[in-house]
Amino acid sequence: MAAFCRSRGTAIVVLQAEYIYGIPTKIMNFDILIQRLVGRATCRLGEGSRLSRSARIRNIAGDTERILIGRNTFVRGELMTFGHGGRIVLGDWCYVGEGTRIWSAASITIGSRVLVSHSVNIFDNLTHPLGASQRHQQTRAILERGHPRELALGEQPVTIHDDAWIGAGAFVLRGVTLGQGAIVAAGAVVTKDVPPFSIVAGNPAVIVRELSPDEL
Ligand SMILES: CC(C)(COP(=O)(O)OP(=O)(O)OC[C@H]1O[C@@H](n2cnc3c(N)ncnc32)[C@H](O)[C@@H]1OP(=O)(O)O)[C@@H](O)C(=O)NCCC(=O)NCCS
Repeated sequence: MAAFCRSRGTAIVVLQAEYIYGIPTKIMNFDILIQRLVGRATCRLGEGSRLSRSARIRNIAGDTERILIGRNTFVRGELMTFGHGGRIVLGDWCYVGEGTRIWSAASITIGSRVLVSHSVNIFDNLTHPLGASQRHQQTRAILERGHPRELALGEQPVTIHDDAWIGAGAFVLRGVTLGQGAIVAAGAVVTKDVPPFSIVAGNPAVIVRELSPDEL
């Protein structure tokens, strides 16, 4: 396989390389490669885990330990930790679909065998201050200098337990815990905890039913 990397106007062609910067070329994500070439922290990737070409790792504080991915997990979406805080932990055999954004300023902990569909948003914070003046300051800082290192965004950790499934286009908001095997219906906006093995739907999401024993 040939891999191409453009750096300062120079095209580098790496032919037949099995690994570039420790990443097998068959699963190469060029965003990660470029970040590693310029010495930026990205994430810790467990054995057998993969980042697709559409995946983005935005580790703004620059500490690799803030984004931890277990084994055999496949990420096609974006994992972002803010400049002032945040930690994302993904377990084993998870899937994160394309267009999904998991943005942490506190902590987002996802267990094993969790299926996060495409175009899902999971936030453990407000993302912007509620006050207009502070919001403008934050926006200006991001545009002019990058994400601020000191900020309060109403952070509340999110926990998603093993075997949960989050349907396409759903939102999981700050402070929420999804119980083991919980299912979030497509397009739901989850603002409150979801008990294990129950299905929530709608905006705001409410329990629509519980899984029957033969569905477990
Ligand atoms: C959650 C889901 C799995 C439930 O499927 P189901 O077992 O057939 O659900 P039911 O038909 O028993 O639904 C129970 C109730 O929830 C409602 N409901 C189901 N999904 C809903 C949704 N996405 N939004 C709003 N209400 C929904 C149903 O209308 C039904 O309401 P009612 O009791 O008033 O008639 C399915 O609706 C869904 O959203 N799947 C996500 C698929 C997806 O995102 N795939 C992407 C690839 S991973």
